[in-house]
Amino acid sequence: MIDLRSDTVTRPTSAMRAVMASAPVGDDVLGDDPTVIRLEERVAALLGKEDAVYVPSGTMANQIGLRVHTRHGDRVVMEAEAHIRIHESGAPAALAGVSIVPVNGMHGVFTPDQLIAAAPPPSPELPPGLFDPTTLVTMENTHNEAGGTVWPIEAMTAVREAARDLGLSVHLDGARLWNASAATNISLDRYAATADTVNVCFSKGLGAPIGSALVGSKALIDRARWFKKLYGGGFRQAGIIAAGALYAIDHHRERLAEDHEHARRFAEAINELDGVTVDLASVQTNIVFFDVADAPGFAAALRDRGVDTLALAPTRIRAVFHLDVSDSETTEAIRVVRAAATG
Ligand SMILES: Cc1ncc(COP(=O)(O)O)c(C=O)c1O
Repeated sequence: MIDLRSDTVTRPTSAMRAVMASAPVGDDVLGDDPTVIRLEERVAALLGKEDAVYVPSGTMANQIGLRVHTRHGDRVVMEAEAHIRIHESGAPAALAGVSIVPVNGMHGVFTPDQLIAAAPPPSPELPPGLFDPTTLVTMENTHNEAGGTVWPIEAMTAVREAARDLGLSVHLDGARLWNASAATNISLDRYAATADTVNVCFSKGLGAPIGSALVGSKALIDRARWFKKLYGGGFRQAGIIAAGALYAIDHHRERLAEDHEHARRFAEAINELDGVTVDLASVQTNIVFFDVADAPGFAAALRDRGVDTLALAPTRIRAVFHLDVSDSETTEAIRVVRAAATG
């Protein structure tokens, strides 16, 4: 089976497994796992921030990110299709106790004016509490639901400046910031400079089995460590998996451009087919969304022929390219979509 459901399906390579098997470990809850410490220092340095905390998932990194910037009852502005809003099990309300002000972006990207409209500053004429306080804005780069689209650095900087004027903190869901950086050659730290906290995932395009990091100032990450424990994220001999993440940073970043090439080639080829439509402008990294008349039926036909995808809406299918999809498997996936489209 060629598995295009997600870039989270990758299996650790044998070289990665070997490094994991021999990783020195300690007790992460007691703060003395040397491999976790090495990973946290490495990621903080890469992103140009003071500190980082290793957590089990991107969801936990994002949710701790929301928690450190807000109080119960606050409002958070984010793009309407943000992962934090639609794919994290209602955690913003359930855990941080915040409500979300959704903003409709273009390819996942919104403007400073949209932010300002969504977070009007409180009027001195009105009594406090008349409007819920807005304290945080989040961005997502790359933007998953928009098709792995890249937030231009200028757009991020502009939102950052508007947020500063409004007195808002900024969290960046950079689950796939590695892909944004690979696609643009803009360094991770330049992207990270537009936010107070950043989530980066090791378990997606980088191909590590488990884990994400939340990075930010020492004060914010000290507080994040407390919430990590509160949320059940203290994971003892985590050095075994942190070693996989370190290996992935060292060995799998350079090759992300290959995934982007595969996605582009696949998108352009299937867009030629009758009954299959791709918004090619949205294919900027490793994710391809395509429209067909009956997505569940079409995805089932692909699966019968050896290609697994995700039908995420009645007429919408997602295919994601990653470490475990080779050039020849990309060619084969195109052949299979063609066969399914022509009946
Ligand atoms: C943009 C984005 N943010 C956060 C996450 C959450 O990561 P995890 O699945 O590790 O909780 C995902 C997962 O796919 C994602 O795509």
